[in-house]
Amino acid sequence: MGNRKSKGGAEKMTLSLWIFGLLLISLPGAHGFNLNSFPENFVVAKKDHQATLTCDVKSDESIKWKFNNESLDDDEANGRSLTVSEVEEALVGEYSCWRGGEQLSSVYLLLDTEGDVSDSPLTCRAQSYHCNFSCKWTSEHKVVRLGLGHNCSVDEKSCHWVKPNLPLEGGFQFELYHSLSPYAEESTMLTVTAEAIDEDYSFLRLTERFYLREIIQPDSPTIVNCQKVGHHLNVTIEPPSSWSTPYSFFNLEHQIEYVHRDDGAIESTSSTLIPWKISSLRVRSRDALVLSEWSQWTPWKNVHAGKKKLCKCKNTVKYCCPQLSPEDLLHCKKKKKKNKKLRTN
Ligand SMILES: *[C@@H]1O[C@H](CO)[C@@H](O)[C@H](O)[C@H]1NC(C)=O
Ligand SMILES: *[C@@H]1O[C@H](CO)[C@@H](O)[C@H](O)[C@H]1NC(C)=O
Ligand SMILES: *[C@@H]1O[C@H](CO)[C@@H](O)[C@H](O)[C@H]1NC(C)=O
Ligand SMILES: *[C@@H]1O[C@H](CO)[C@@H](O)[C@H](O)[C@H]1NC(C)=O
Repeated sequence: MGNRKSKGGAEKMTLSLWIFGLLLISLPGAHGFNLNSFPENFVVAKKDHQATLTCDVKSDESIKWKFNNESLDDDEANGRSLTVSEVEEALVGEYSCWRGGEQLSSVYLLLDTEGDVSDSPLTCRAQSYHCNFSCKWTSEHKVVRLGLGHNCSVDEKSCHWVKPNLPLEGGFQFELYHSLSPYAEESTMLTVTAEAIDEDYSFLRLTERFYLREIIQPDSPTIVNCQKVGHHLNVTIEPPSSWSTPYSFFNLEHQIEYVHRDDGAIESTSSTLIPWKISSLRVRSRDALVLSEWSQWTPWKNVHAGKKKLCKCKNTVKYCCPQLSPEDLLHCKKKKKKNKKLRTN
């Protein structure tokens, strides 16, 4: 016991020498951040706490350690395990152990910043009740990974970590898979754990719990048709193709927003019968049962009802409601040809 104590004392001394050495050799800004994915081995420690780093090798024989590629020429830094007795900013980064010219393994020492985040950078969204959903991480962190399930929140070895699948402006995007049945009453919450490392080797870990139904946000629906019925327009809307089927079970409700032709006033309704004297409309949807988040609006569509040709001949399918009739389309084609002829002549 006494022996161990004195060893601890010696390490403390070692540590202060390191700080001194580092300040001399590697400032300013020489702590090159070199991670582009999550490191296999890392140790997270709180500031001023002790951390022990281990070289992944059987024997203690002639091991030398490097810190951020700088040799630690210290008598204490030659065993299989290395103790940093007071972790601080200047001491976090990559530690590698060497024998001769061969690197045996490497481990990152990271500074714990748990609890420093008030606004969670993690947001998740599901387009449907299918088995996958996506999460966005929006913060400055350099590498991030997510894990789904209890095992990840308690940091079990069996946690299956997921890498981001898309680099995102100012963050990362992930796709996660769950095994909940879309038809059953949802009684278990999803648990998503995130781990992130910043370029100063600070480490953040946070866990969020939610029901799948709480993160549902459908994609935009499709405006299929507009049909004049008396003084109204009957708008036919189809759920997005990514939405769960059968639609009779996974009921969506729609909202239509439209612009009056005469005064440009904007109105919205949940009815699919709207006034026909309008110039354009757009639609959005949400899960009618759980009153989910609304989808994004569809793009505005011009409405051509009545005699006025409000729909231009180009982009008729995308921007017109109803789509032009075959005769109208033929007319457009002819017009196009004529214009072409006029131009070439
Ligand atoms: C250490 O050197 C290797 C090889 O030159 C390099 O890939 C790595 O980024 C360096 N690590 C640090 C922390 O600078
Ligand atoms: C779920 O998977 C489908 C099919 O692979 C894909 O099109 C969709 O974008 C995924 N959804 C999310 C939210 O990642
Ligand atoms: C979680 O960990 C336990 C114990 O390590 C294991 O038995 C179980 O299969 C793991 N669950 C998942 C979903 O990986
Ligand atoms: C509106 O259109 C839908 C689908 O085309 C149709 O089933 C419905 O009867 C129409 N409603 C009216 C009032 O015409």
